[in-house]
Amino acid sequence: MTFTLDIPQRCIIAGGARQQLANEAKRLVWQRPLIVTDPFHNDTGKAQELIDILAQQNIDARVYSGVINEPTTQMVDAAIAQYNDQSCDGIIGFGGGSPLDTAKTVAVLLKNPGPIQRFMGLHKVARAGAPCIAIPTTAGTGAEATKVVVITDALTDVKMMCLDRAFLPAVAIVDYELSITSPPALTAAVGVDALTHAIEAYVSRKANPYTDAIALQACQLIYNAIRTAYHTPNNTDARSAMMQGAFMAGVAFSNASVCLVHGMSRPIGACFHVPHGLSNAMLLPAITRFSLEAAPQRYLAVAQILGLKDEQALPDALQTLNTDLNMQTPATFGIDAKQWQQRIAKMAQDALASGSPANNPRVATAAQITELYQHVYS
Ligand SMILES: [Fe+2]
Repeated sequence: MTFTLDIPQRCIIAGGARQQLANEAKRLVWQRPLIVTDPFHNDTGKAQELIDILAQQNIDARVYSGVINEPTTQMVDAAIAQYNDQSCDGIIGFGGGSPLDTAKTVAVLLKNPGPIQRFMGLHKVARAGAPCIAIPTTAGTGAEATKVVVITDALTDVKMMCLDRAFLPAVAIVDYELSITSPPALTAAVGVDALTHAIEAYVSRKANPYTDAIALQACQLIYNAIRTAYHTPNNTDARSAMMQGAFMAGVAFSNASVCLVHGMSRPIGACFHVPHGLSNAMLLPAITRFSLEAAPQRYLAVAQILGLKDEQALPDALQTLNTDLNMQTPATFGIDAKQWQQRIAKMAQDALASGSPANNPRVATAAQITELYQHVYS
């Protein structure tokens, strides 16, 4: 049996860890790194704080702040153009999953001839990417720890999933202080995404003993902290637990894969523009109930680490969590019942085509996926 575990070369996890950015940049012999971020982090002065930290070691950083919503090939190209124009020599991803995915993609393209379309799919990158430092500001995607990016082709609108260890950041700086200003609805949605990563990594057919240990720890950290982080945003213990849990969940699913929830969640996002964490939340209780019979011991371990009586209690506990976090349903999000019905066949087809459902402990047929989509509409 061979187990592989791909993680960043160095992970710095602490409140205030961002202060170590300059030391890490110096070790990489950077003099002019490009910080890849979004307008929010630029306009609110958060990127400026990183520039100031780097300036203390005479490192002269520049900022590309054009990552708006989901990253596209156009944004990646614009960041590379700025990198070249300003003679940059390092890449820092800063923000939520979108800036981090953009930065990771730039780093790969600096060392591998594009276009990025060549790298769509699994293990398509020939050479290691340039080193990238990833600094998340939300406790959710785990992108700082993963070897996967999702970039939308600006011309065709196709969402390209690219997975290769070349996309793994060299350094992950996981600093919960950066997440304290996340608004409650965002905290809840990205937090449930992280919990879904942890649960799916643990029950995945591709799990291994190393991802198991990390995934279970992530389940516990996230589940025990998410309500507090949502209701009391300034609670530093909860924010710290969420940030660590999301990072661990990223490590776990990057190496063990996600399963049916993610497979069915992406088409909901594509068809109805539902944020990723929210579409996971819409599916997680029902898909957990559907999957229980195929891996009762696995779900029992998850239930026990969450403090529940047994695995049968897990779907209800996840539903209660949704209620406590005021997560919307498809109907309350504003999706028309008729439109939902009309799109189910296509969504089921796309879910199966993604490959993720094949990792689920109970592998669903197209008919069962259709039923699950019908069941979760409320
Ligand atoms: Fe996710």
